[in-house]
Amino acid sequence: MRSKRILVTGGAGFIGSHFISFYLDRHPNDEVINLDKLTYAGRLEHLTEVEGRPGYTFVKGDICDGDLLDHLFTKYDITDIIHFAAESHVDQAIRNADPFIMTNIQGTYQLLKTALNHWKRDRHNHRFHHISTDEVYGTLNPGDAPFTEQSPYRPNNPYSASKASAALLVRSFHKTHGLNTVITHCTNNYGPKQHEEKLIPTIIHRAFTLQEIPIYGDGRQIRDWLFVRDHCEALDLVFHRGMAGEEYNIGGHCEIENQALSEMICDMLDVFCPLPIQSGKIRRYRDLITHVADRPGHDRRYALDTSKLENELGFKPRTNLKDGLRETIQWMAHTSLKAARPEENVG
Ligand SMILES: NC(=O)c1ccc[n+]([C@@H]2O[C@H](COP(=O)([O-])OP(=O)(O)OC[C@H]3O[C@@H](n4cnc5c(N)ncnc54)[C@H](O)[C@@H]3O)[C@@H](O)[C@H]2O)c1
Repeated sequence: MRSKRILVTGGAGFIGSHFISFYLDRHPNDEVINLDKLTYAGRLEHLTEVEGRPGYTFVKGDICDGDLLDHLFTKYDITDIIHFAAESHVDQAIRNADPFIMTNIQGTYQLLKTALNHWKRDRHNHRFHHISTDEVYGTLNPGDAPFTEQSPYRPNNPYSASKASAALLVRSFHKTHGLNTVITHCTNNYGPKQHEEKLIPTIIHRAFTLQEIPIYGDGRQIRDWLFVRDHCEALDLVFHRGMAGEEYNIGGHCEIENQALSEMICDMLDVFCPLPIQSGKIRRYRDLITHVADRPGHDRRYALDTSKLENELGFKPRTNLKDGLRETIQWMAHTSLKAARPEENVG
């Protein structure tokens, strides 16, 4: 039998799909059971690298389905959980928060309850790793000290509120029931395979299709960016070596305003795939940037103090923003650009 049999939830999404492939390369004797509902955000084509591997199984299903979770725990004798599954887009949560409450809160509770039932006798030997976000801490002003793991949760939108609720439930199952939990709060991820609704893929896709690139408000919001494979590396460290009951911040040491980020991407695109001759008044991709009404409850700045993870577990992000963006652009060129401008030979 394989050493660990890990239930990974949401493994057909952006981060989960990178993580599964990263994890199985690094730990070929472990087994991953990927439970994903395949919402609009889940794509099985993200998992072609692992399909057919002996240690990989895909199950289509909902984390809110307690009977299914029970069945999977029994059938695969699940030893650990890494919980990515979530509704993850703030704009969708502003339009309708119902699925966020259901999946992010109720689904996390179902997983915790099932794990506790099945691991009752030796709960200390089984890890429940919850994937959280820097958004649970709320917003900072430029110049404020970054959030530490001691900062209170002060979420400002329904997405971050649902993620904060989920993290508090995880915390309570450790404090009350002794479940061996770890929680990681990560800053904004980017990289290949990210859904086009998110900021960086939106900028690239809009540029490829010569549409306006919408930037909320004055574009002065600051985010910290982490390349998705660096996130996977940090998750692997915390999953194996993090202390039970602890929370760890994960960040990229890469704070940048949304406006500056979009200009940087546009400038890279000018070199990577020069505008087609028939692009009219648009002379540079930057000309497509358009400021639109700000998102309600829009947080000004996210930034994390990541010294705990760095000092205790030795994590350092490896990928600088330019390299990560180049890889993301190249990946999108093979998907979006080829569809938008089939006549061009790019990438
Ligand atoms: N993307 C980021 O920048 C970022 C940053 C910090 C934390 N996070 C967190 O990381 C996790 C993964 O984020 P992502 O960007 O990969 O999200 P994503 O939206 O790309 O993927 C989410 C996945 O969860 C699945 N899913 C949704 N509801 C489900 C349900 N009820 N049952 C089973 N599967 C379900 C979807 O089908 C999808 O495959 C989330 O918990 C998110 O809050 C993301």
